[in-house]
Amino acid sequence: MESGGSRERWGTKVGFILAAAGSAIGLGNIWKFPYVAGENGGAAFVLIYIVFVIILGLPIMIAELVIGRHTEKDPVGAFKVIAGGTKWVFVGYLGVLSGFFILSFYSVVGGWTLGYIVKSISGTAAGIDSIETAKGVFQEFSMDPLLMILYHFLFMGSCMVIVIRGIKKGIERWSKVLMPLLFFILIVLIIKGLSMEGSFRGLSFFLKPDFSKITADSIIAALGQSFFSLSLGMGAMITYGSYLSKKEKILHSAMYIVLLDTLIAILAGFAIFPAVFAMNMSPKGGPGLIFHIIPAVFGKMEFGYIFSTLFFVLLFIAALTSGMSLLEVVTAYIIDERGWSRRKGVYVTGTIIFLLGVPSALSFGVIRDATYFLGNTFFDFMDKLTSNYMLPIGGFFIAICLGYKYGLENTIHELDPDTRVISLKELWAFFIKFISPFLILFLFIMLIRDDIVSLFSRLFG
Ligand code: PHE
Repeated sequence: MESGGSRERWGTKVGFILAAAGSAIGLGNIWKFPYVAGENGGAAFVLIYIVFVIILGLPIMIAELVIGRHTEKDPVGAFKVIAGGTKWVFVGYLGVLSGFFILSFYSVVGGWTLGYIVKSISGTAAGIDSIETAKGVFQEFSMDPLLMILYHFLFMGSCMVIVIRGIKKGIERWSKVLMPLLFFILIVLIIKGLSMEGSFRGLSFFLKPDFSKITADSIIAALGQSFFSLSLGMGAMITYGSYLSKKEKILHSAMYIVLLDTLIAILAGFAIFPAVFAMNMSPKGGPGLIFHIIPAVFGKMEFGYIFSTLFFVLLFIAALTSGMSLLEVVTAYIIDERGWSRRKGVYVTGTIIFLLGVPSALSFGVIRDATYFLGNTFFDFMDKLTSNYMLPIGGFFIAICLGYKYGLENTIHELDPDTRVISLKELWAFFIKFISPFLILFLFIMLIRDDIVSLFSRLFG
């Protein structure tokens, strides 16, 4: 225990940054970013994404850390403090609910990474020598109901084991070692991808913006992706901030985390798109994209199975450090607000999340044609509902609540001292109060307008 009170604390500053970066860096960067960018036109999407990361992600990341450290509470408890017993507490509940929903499908993909570790070691992946076989292998895998549920179960179980052990022993220790290794394997992939014939078209897809491909939907996808990738809008960073000692500098930490997260996403793009184009594949491969590409690239390489094993092991661990932050939000709520023990909290919430994830696990096989959810499979529906709506809406209310209800003057002392002419503190305050929430609002109004128009044209067109 580092400072007074009984709340558990991060052991070291680096430990905190790595744990928070561990929450941010995950499937969102390596699995999701490439396929969402691929479906939304490539470079133009990437550009919009980066703009959102800077003007929405960074200020809201700082806001969440400030709220967390200031209140030393889970998201619901934090909003009880800053909203002073008003209805605004629902923002905290919305966050906890998002945690339930996100982890339910996140765990399914986490399970895929486990499955692919097994495939790489057992040699199934080594037999993959073309993109067609790679697709076939993934399809067969993702259609198998028992395997899907088993791997989803194993991933959830792993998150639960770590979260039961508490933050310092569990979360911090794991996050420390593995990030540099992930970096290394991405570089290997990039070199391999770029050396393939035809890879250049992939680079230009990723780097040369074609704004004619941008639609209201792709802007919302970029918005959602920036929140999802940075673990924002649901209180994960509030929860992590609540374990942060008063000595640490929030502004600096937040900048590191955002920078690292964005860097890894961009590297993942460089690793995937050249190979996608070199193999004459469409970048619109959907959620299976990296599970098609990676085995196909490594399948053609000498000792490729070693790299592919390493890749999926690292991806699994990156997913785990994010998954446990999601579970930690839910657990912190149950412990702080309901007074449960950590163990009981994790068992009960983990089981509920597992069950909620079952339809997502089956969404690529048995129930793949059940698209009752506004035209989406259950998996896609949960993903879009949380990333594109719940998280940005959560972020909007976090900013509004801090800026207008609680007042920035009550929390700004949480930020690093700084003596610049325009201080970073003031810049942050300006963004949280006047820019970030209103940009989110504006984007949603645009979207709703578009949706209403398209609904009417579908109904009467
Ligand atoms: N940021 C994580 C990722 O990129 C996912 C996540 C979202 C984690 C929201 C916590 C909260 O994989």
